[in-house]
Amino acid sequence: MFKRIGVIGSGAMGRGIAQLFATAGQQVLLYDVRAEAVDQALAFNRELLERNVAKGRMTAEALAATLERMQPAGSLAELAECDLLIEAIVEKLEVKQQLFVELEGLISDDAVLATNTSSLSVTRIAAACRRPERVAGFHFFNPVTLMKLVEVVRGERTEAEVIDRLVALAEHAGHFPAITPDTPGFLVNHAGRAYGTEAQRILSEGVATAEQIDRILRDGPGFKMGPFELFDLTGLDISHAVMESVHDQFYQDPRYTPSYLAAQRVAAGLLGRKTGQGYYRYENGQQLRSP
Ligand code: NAI
Repeated sequence: MFKRIGVIGSGAMGRGIAQLFATAGQQVLLYDVRAEAVDQALAFNRELLERNVAKGRMTAEALAATLERMQPAGSLAELAECDLLIEAIVEKLEVKQQLFVELEGLISDDAVLATNTSSLSVTRIAAACRRPERVAGFHFFNPVTLMKLVEVVRGERTEAEVIDRLVALAEHAGHFPAITPDTPGFLVNHAGRAYGTEAQRILSEGVATAEQIDRILRDGPGFKMGPFELFDLTGLDISHAVMESVHDQFYQDPRYTPSYLAAQRVAAGLLGRKTGQGYYRYENGQQLRSP
């Protein structure tokens, strides 16, 4: 296992990753450019874990120990002793590259740099690094503690030992690691593209409403969530960026063309659950029915 894990980015994914590994007995430091995001993430995780105690799924002692293992970091420099760094920041290639370059200046040569990117090329992120062989993808799904799959993405230059250690860590935390090559969208976001893009096409052609499409795909083929519910949960800023990235990486293959419906909502700041409106409206975290 790793001695100490640094998680960079304390949003929906970072806080979940921190909680997963702290619960599994690992020491975790949580960092974000916005200090208040770290406080919010720690408060959010505490509330979730307290609910587990109330439901008898966790003892009060285990809760106290888990919270103790999850600590805030006030600067990147405080992550210097970490031997695994997992980034879950904004989905932009240059920003992730810049972060990894900065981290390499702080951490030991043996430390592993993992990215939770949904769709960017791990190889391209690693290309900015001095030691690209220490970089891999570690792609979790939202919400991290409930969604047991994690893609362990092998960049072109990732060392086998790095992949083995991430696989072992995921299994130790009770997750199911799937090793994937570094192809556009890896496995899940490649296969899942059609689910979202075709649904948006049907909606934009006026064939059915978002609610009808979601219900049909839930009640018919039995998907847990319809595509529009999933867009709103993921956040349209993230899912639209994933669509654009996969489309670009496949040299504008029309099968992956993103939708103007998502682009417009992103421009308007209607990102889904996190902003109270995306394809649906939300109040106190609950989806409102259409009038
Ligand atoms: P989010 O918007 O909830 O959180 C991102 C956090 O990163 C914010 O708190 C922000 O302040 C912080 N941040 C931005 N730039 C930073 C920097 N340079 N240094 C430190 N902190 C920085 O985003 P979310 O949903 O947690 O996504 C994060 C990453 O995880 C993205 O790469 C996304 O593609 C990926 N991902 C997202 C999934 C989802 O369903 N939302 C699923 C799987 C992966």
